[in-house]
Amino acid sequence: MKSQLLLMKLGGSVITHKDKPLSPNFKVIKDLSHTLASIQMPLVLVHGGGSFGHYWSVKYKMHSKPDCYDLHGISIVHQSMIALNEIIVDSLIKEGTNPYAVTPSTFTNGLRPIISKIEELRTIAKGGILPITFGDVVHVSRQNYSILSGDSIMTILAKVLVPSKTIFTVNVDGLYKDMKNAEIIREIDNATYKSIEFSKILTDVTGGMRRKIKEAFKIASSGMDVLLVNGLKPERILNAIDGIDIDCTVIRGIKTRSR
Ligand code: IPE
Repeated sequence: MKSQLLLMKLGGSVITHKDKPLSPNFKVIKDLSHTLASIQMPLVLVHGGGSFGHYWSVKYKMHSKPDCYDLHGISIVHQSMIALNEIIVDSLIKEGTNPYAVTPSTFTNGLRPIISKIEELRTIAKGGILPITFGDVVHVSRQNYSILSGDSIMTILAKVLVPSKTIFTVNVDGLYKDMKNAEIIREIDNATYKSIEFSKILTDVTGGMRRKIKEAFKIASSGMDVLLVNGLKPERILNAIDGIDIDCTVIRGIKTRSR
């Protein structure tokens, strides 16, 4: 059953200047924090790595495949995400929310969810705390580590929490049908999903968007709607929560259990 809970990801391309290493977008972080402070519904937040985690994971050749990665790289990538998280948490506190940061390793075992710890996030969110987690490098087994993206974390959390609304904030208006005319696909449902030429669309946008859509469909395949909303226009987030029609892409929850 869906609970009154909002699950939202702040994309790395929204909260950082993605092409400038280690460069937070302070203005956007402040604006988003201000917006999030006005949300009345219990909220669980996830954020991406942008020019923090991604920058270092590329440097140390780390991927989302479990492997024996450079040990120094593991520390550096993790620490860069802690540093970015601290900037966001500080901003959220300044804007009047009560964030509580949790690393993904507190609610995952390797890449598998720890259901009781995820349920705990719901409990604390309902009590007024804003749990916030992030894409990270996680220990998987023996000396194997993996990048666990914020997008994958969204799927892990959504499947357990079954939120009433799931929003990915991105730095564009949604998934583009046509890049030339900047025309977005407003809604993707079970039927249109099959008719969309994903290979064509997805090569038009960043690899980041490709991964995001993949995770969004995993969530939608569990019956939940997923919204891609432009996080650089935070008022759209509030409108989306209120069910007001905005420029965004909605991936309709697929009712059949086709995973
Ligand atoms: C990346 O998380 C985490 C690391 C590289 C450590 P995401 O893949 O979710 O980040 P963005 O949103 O695409 O930047």
